[in-house]
Amino acid sequence: MNFTIIDHPLTRHYLTVLRDHDTPPERFRTAARSLTYTLVLEATKRLPMDEFPVDSPLEKTAGYRVRDVAAVAVLRAGLGMLDAVLDMIPEVKVGFAGVQRDEETALPQEYYAKLPDLSEASVLILEPMLATGGSLSWAVGKVKSSGARQITALCVVTAPEGVRRLNEDHPDVHIVAAAYDRELNDNYYIVPGLGDMGDRLFGTL
Ligand code: URA
Repeated sequence: MNFTIIDHPLTRHYLTVLRDHDTPPERFRTAARSLTYTLVLEATKRLPMDEFPVDSPLEKTAGYRVRDVAAVAVLRAGLGMLDAVLDMIPEVKVGFAGVQRDEETALPQEYYAKLPDLSEASVLILEPMLATGGSLSWAVGKVKSSGARQITALCVVTAPEGVRRLNEDHPDVHIVAAAYDRELNDNYYIVPGLGDMGDRLFGTL
């Protein structure tokens, strides 16, 4: 399975801040950003690079530049991870994908999508809560149909159901996450999880 859990002490530290139900939105947002830095480092380990000569103040030496990278934030919770990606890769192209569950069919329904040209890009999909996997699987399909070649999903918390679904639908996609939790409850929340990521980020509880 193409699945990496980050067990760095800082990842665990910030995950704990996110899990704590007493963490207020402003602290929650900074912790989400800090945790995402640790995921981005792992997720970008195999990015294609160009090599070119660079003049240091002392002499010419080898320089490197990462090629075309794009990030797609799955609305709305993926926005909580975007600033970290922009900090680390300022040249990143950014897309947004909004999906909601149809109340009658329970199938994912697109309500917004704006993607940059992904034909040459390595794509990071920002989907913090991998619960049933429906939204992420849909977002990956959307990104693939725009021509993306190397796709990595960045998640804060994952559930077994979501990881299984992704692996079945898109076995080529690498998942990088901070946690693999026990299960989903009857309302499709991840347990123990951290609650509703969007509500906690934006104070809409
Ligand atoms: N989305 C969330 O924000 N939290 C969950 O636990 C599951 C899906």
